[in-house]
Amino acid sequence: MLSGKKIIVCISGSIAAYKIPFLVRLLKREGAEVQVILTPFAHEFVTLLTLSTLSEKPVLTEFYEEGSGSWFSHVDLGLWADLILVAPLSANTMAKMAAGIADNLLLTTVLSARCPVYYAPAMDLDMYKHPSTQANIKTLSSFGYKLIEPAEGELASGLKGMGRLEEPENILSILKEEFLKNSAFAGKQVMVSAGPTYEAIDPVRFIGNHSSGKMGAEIALALAKNGARVELILGPTSLAIDHPLINVHHVTSAEDMFERCTSLFPESDVGIMTAAVADFRPVSGAAEKIKKESGLENLQLEPTKDILSEMGKGKRDNQLLVGFALETENEEKNALKKLQNKNLDLIVLNSLKDDGAGFGYDTNKITLLTREGNKKEYPLKSKADVATDILLAIEDLLS
Ligand code: CTP
Repeated sequence: MLSGKKIIVCISGSIAAYKIPFLVRLLKREGAEVQVILTPFAHEFVTLLTLSTLSEKPVLTEFYEEGSGSWFSHVDLGLWADLILVAPLSANTMAKMAAGIADNLLLTTVLSARCPVYYAPAMDLDMYKHPSTQANIKTLSSFGYKLIEPAEGELASGLKGMGRLEEPENILSILKEEFLKNSAFAGKQVMVSAGPTYEAIDPVRFIGNHSSGKMGAEIALALAKNGARVELILGPTSLAIDHPLINVHHVTSAEDMFERCTSLFPESDVGIMTAAVADFRPVSGAAEKIKKESGLENLQLEPTKDILSEMGKGKRDNQLLVGFALETENEEKNALKKLQNKNLDLIVLNSLKDDGAGFGYDTNKITLLTREGNKKEYPLKSKADVATDILLAIEDLLS
C-alpha cells in the first residue's frame, strides 16, 4: 500500500539504529521509495552499506560528497518526501530539532519538510523521563510532528523501563495509517468486475474466454489496501481473494454479471470494469448434454447486454467510470470510441500485440486515456504495479 510513496528515514545516534535496516526492508516491501539520512554519529551503530543495499539508494550523511563536490540539497529532499520519519531519535538530536539547530543534513532536511514528520525516540529511561526531554517532546508536538512513543522493556543499559524504540512492524503500521487517512479511496465504495463469463451451450459446454481475472483482483486488492470498500463481481476463475474490505460476488454468465453490476453501481462512487464479458451467448442453452451425432446446426447466438454501456447511461456526476479495452488493431482509435460510446472517464488500453500483456500473464502493458484527452503510456510492469498506476490516475480524477 506504500507504492510510489516517498519516505525519508532519518537515523540519529542511538543503539536502536540496529533495528532500522529491518524497517527499511519492510517499507521497500510495501513499495515505498526510501531515502536514508544519518547524522554523522549514527553510522557508528549501523553500516551505510547495509542501509544503501536495502534502500537501493546511496544513503546521505553530509551536505556534500567529498571529492566530487556534489551538493545534497536539504530543501529538495524536504520537498521530495511524502513523509519523514526520524527513528531512532536520540535525546541530543531531539533537543536540536526542538531548538531549530541545523548543523547537519538530517536536521536541515527536517527543518525544510512540508510533509508529515514522525519521530520515534529511543534513549535510556531516565533520559526519556527528564523534564528537558519531556519539554522537547511538547515543543515537537507544537510543530505538528507526530510522536511514536517508545515502548517499555529491557534497555541497552541493562535497566528496564520506557525508552525502547518501537518495533519496526508497529512503526510500519503507524505510517500506513497516515497514508490511509489521506487516501482518496478511504471510505469510498468501488465496484470492480473481473474475470471471464461463461455462456452455457448445454450443461457441459460453454462459450468463454481466456481471462484469468488477475488484473481485476490486483485492482481490488490495491483499492482495499487504500481503504476502499470493494464489491468485486468475479466471473469463473481459480482466484482466491481474501480481504476484509473485499466483498466477492461470484457470477457465471454475462446476464448474472449484468444483474449484480447494475444493482451495485448506483451505490458506488467508482466502477472499474476489467471483466472480459462474452459478447454472444446461445439463444437458449440445452437442458441436456447435446450428443455429437445431433451436431450444432441449431446453435443460435444472440448478443449479451453491454454492462459497461448500461452503467455509463446511468452514471451520475459524482460517480467515476473506468473501462478496459483489449484490442488487436487500431488500438487507440478503438479505445477512444469505447470511452465516448460508453460514457467513461478513463479507459485502460491493452494491446494483445504487446509481449507479456493480456490474458494469463502476471505482467501487463497499458496506456491510459482520459475523457479530457490525456494520454499516458506505461512500460511492461507486474499486474500489481499496473493496478497502482491505474489507482493513481483515478485518484487524480477524484481530486
Ligand atoms: N464490457 C461490459 N459488458 C460487455 C462487454 C464489455 O461491461 N458485454 C466492458 C468490459 O468489461 C470492458 C469494456 O466493456 O471494460 C470494453 O470491453 P471490450 O471487450 O474491449 O469491448 P466490447 O465493447 O465488447 O467491444 P469489442 O469486443 O467489439 O471490441
